Amino acid sequence: MLNWDHVFATRSSRMRASEIRELLKLLDKPEIISFAGGIPDPALFPQAEFSRAYADLFSDGRASAALQYSVSEGYLPLRVWLKEEMGRLGIACEVDNIFITSGSQQALDYLGKLFLSTGDTALLTWPTYLGALQAFNAYEPTYDQLGTGNRTPASYRANAHASGGAVKFAYLSTDFANPTGQTVSLEERQRILSLADDLDIPVIEDAAYQHLRYDGEAILPILALDIARSGGIDACRTIYCGSFSKTLAPGLRVGYVVAARPVIRKLVLMKQAADLHSSTINQMVVAEVAERHFPAQIEKIRTAYVARRDAMLAALEKYMPDGVEWTRPEGGMFVWVTLPEGMDGADLLARSVETEKVAFVPGQAFFADRSGANTIRLSYSCANETMIEEGIRRLGRLVGSALKRAA
Ligand SMILES: Cc1ncc(COP(=O)(O)O)c(C=O)c1O
Repeated sequence: MLNWDHVFATRSSRMRASEIRELLKLLDKPEIISFAGGIPDPALFPQAEFSRAYADLFSDGRASAALQYSVSEGYLPLRVWLKEEMGRLGIACEVDNIFITSGSQQALDYLGKLFLSTGDTALLTWPTYLGALQAFNAYEPTYDQLGTGNRTPASYRANAHASGGAVKFAYLSTDFANPTGQTVSLEERQRILSLADDLDIPVIEDAAYQHLRYDGEAILPILALDIARSGGIDACRTIYCGSFSKTLAPGLRVGYVVAARPVIRKLVLMKQAADLHSSTINQMVVAEVAERHFPAQIEKIRTAYVARRDAMLAALEKYMPDGVEWTRPEGGMFVWVTLPEGMDGADLLARSVETEKVAFVPGQAFFADRSGANTIRLSYSCANETMIEEGIRRLGRLVGSALKRAA
């Protein structure tokens, strides 16, 4: 029998099943109150709008085009709509600065492939989006911590050199991050841009949750700040990754990159080699639904999620014992909980599922250095307010009893 390990490339050794996806399989039981998922509530998908958009394609003569191969850059009317939408977010760009991907996850994979040679360094927040770690791991980088304030460019360079490569980019989620729910302040965005200037590297801005703001003031994307100081998008070092997964529906796999033309041209070549183009028909229906229904859809999901976020924050306040801390996100789907030092999120999950029938994600997997054992991620996107109150009540009880046992 073939020994597969002898023929797998070295890069495959860092490909591991997502702990979260493995976990989700086990937790998909009706008796469990799950804060684990972090996926959009399917009840909020614009199903009727998509149904009509697909039907229209097949009745008004566009079916041949919809079922045909199409250009690697992406469906032009969708890119035109995105140009307008980017303008509304403060990002002045041309259609040529926009590239459609199969979900923003594909953008992360392509950007890892484009920038990282083995041993190069990617700067990430601790914690970061697990899918970014998975995408970048295949290119065998090392990671260094972004956002600790007191690090000098020279120290980043020295670490990267010691690991046998160079610092290649900084990656961060700017609004309502997965997993913390936190938003990067304007000052911090400016600081990251000037660090990137000093290191002469790109900034990858993951804006997957940007449209899901429930309160507070919107902060300009890093790309918008970069455009303002460099005079135009083609002079920018920021690469903005967006997605329709959290606003319309993830199953269509439509995401996008907005960046300087030299980056877009490379991404187009990569797409030609990888999958030619994203699904033509899905891009066409996304364009149609976005053109006609985007603001109403955003309003619908905001109304649902803000009530769930408020329910979760109120329940945490009511039921969590002293010594437990959590974020207070202004949008997105997540609350990040820091348990007292010494308490382990994975152990807590095992007990929670068994005795309280409540699920969440232990935080350690989101840390490139595997720290953060005493953290957990709670998602409120798929639970109703009653379930949220009950689930947090049980979780608070469990944490309280673990604390008493430890005392
Ligand atoms: C921060 C972040 N970026 C990117 C993605 C990928 O989303 P998609 O590929 O569906 O656009 C996700 C999905 O959960 C995410 O949380």
